[in-house]
Amino acid sequence: MKTTIAKIGQYEGQEVTIGAWLAGKRSSGKIAFLQLRDGTGFIQGVVVKAEAGEEQFQQAKNLTQESSLYVTGTVKADERSPSGYELVVSHIDLLHAATDYPITPKEHGTEFLMDHRHLWLRSKRQHAVMKIRNEIIRATYQFFNENGFVKVDPPILTGSAPEGTSELFATKYFDEDAYLSQSGQLYMEAAAMALGRVFSFGPTFRAEKSKTRRHLIEFWMIEPEMAFVEFEENLEIQEQYVAYIVKAVLDACQLELNVLGRDTSKLEQITAPFPRIHYDQAITFLQEKGFDDITWGDDFGAPHETAIAEHYDKPVFITHYPTSLKPFYMQPDPERDDVVLCADLIAPEGYGEIIGGSQRIDDADLLKQRIKEHQLSEDAYKWYMELRHYGSVPHSGFGLGLERTVAWLAGVEHVRETIPFPRLLNRLYP
Ligand code: 4AD
Ligand code: MG
Repeated sequence: MKTTIAKIGQYEGQEVTIGAWLAGKRSSGKIAFLQLRDGTGFIQGVVVKAEAGEEQFQQAKNLTQESSLYVTGTVKADERSPSGYELVVSHIDLLHAATDYPITPKEHGTEFLMDHRHLWLRSKRQHAVMKIRNEIIRATYQFFNENGFVKVDPPILTGSAPEGTSELFATKYFDEDAYLSQSGQLYMEAAAMALGRVFSFGPTFRAEKSKTRRHLIEFWMIEPEMAFVEFEENLEIQEQYVAYIVKAVLDACQLELNVLGRDTSKLEQITAPFPRIHYDQAITFLQEKGFDDITWGDDFGAPHETAIAEHYDKPVFITHYPTSLKPFYMQPDPERDDVVLCADLIAPEGYGEIIGGSQRIDDADLLKQRIKEHQLSEDAYKWYMELRHYGSVPHSGFGLGLERTVAWLAGVEHVRETIPFPRLLNRLYP
């Protein structure tokens, strides 16, 4: 019976064949242990000389790392194995003998591993991270579909810039200037006026000169946008969504979290509601903590965010940032127009901002004024302005950065390990 490692438990006591790569091996004079992987999982194959015969045993002993194989054997329950099973091997078909695989069991430096990202992805750790990433994506579609949202795909090539013009990747669109999308938000606002509640999931590009563990040049964002939803309800949807994906990962990825050594007790506490702290309070809090370089009107850096996050065991919303720090489209607080109806969601344990969101300006005159103040081209934003001329309604939305969320849930220090092929400052290879 041909099967996969993920399904092997269904065949306990039976003989099966799997296609696999040799991830590692160790052997003595009488027995060889093969670490096999097939993409669906990892399992140990045991070759006993007395049972498999001299020829099969020698072949197994001489196999090289990352050689590809068809392995036939009997499935045996094994309590010590993380998958719960091992394979007692009777026959091996060598498909391709690999030689000098560069990533050996010894320690390698980060740059070396990044240069070999196309191979590094095969490791148990990277496999676990990619499975967690996949589960977050799967649960995202499920959450939004269950809650009446429609998936809408905004364009990648655009003529306008939602988050400011300094970090755009410019390109040519035949004779016109174009930019790679840094956020689909403006298009999602148009879609919300057509479909009510919408969400997108796609790549975004930012030519940020930041070399930190939280910044990628190309990253993936989930951007919901909701008509008739105001500031507070926007936060409620965010906390429900984040709690939902945390639970999904805990339910589906125990094996992977275990491989990564993630302390899951910290994730089990993540239930809605999440605490909220006003920007004003956050400044006072930081000053009291001894950050005497920060004053009202300043943006937060990673150390500030971490200090605030450490105060809570759940993600925390920092709300009502100064208008001057945020993009042109955010709705001012009706009580004081020096702050806007926005919130950043800061993950616990120092993983930083995972969501940025806000209520959007729905008044045409105010939006026009803001576009002027930000020196944006009225031509490029003409279509966006028109959304305020034909049945304008209060509406809100947010963007969740997938890679930072993966880093947090997987307990991975740097976002470079949370996307298959990271695009970083000075890295476009492989
Ligand atoms: O806070 P940002 O810039 O918000 C927006 O783009 C809004 N237009 C979203 C919206 O309201 N529809 O980005 C949203 C999130 C951040 O909280 C962060 O998680 C992630 O995107 N992010 C990055 N992730 C990795 N590398 C970068 N360079 C990132 N920049 C932002
Ligand atoms: Mg932000």
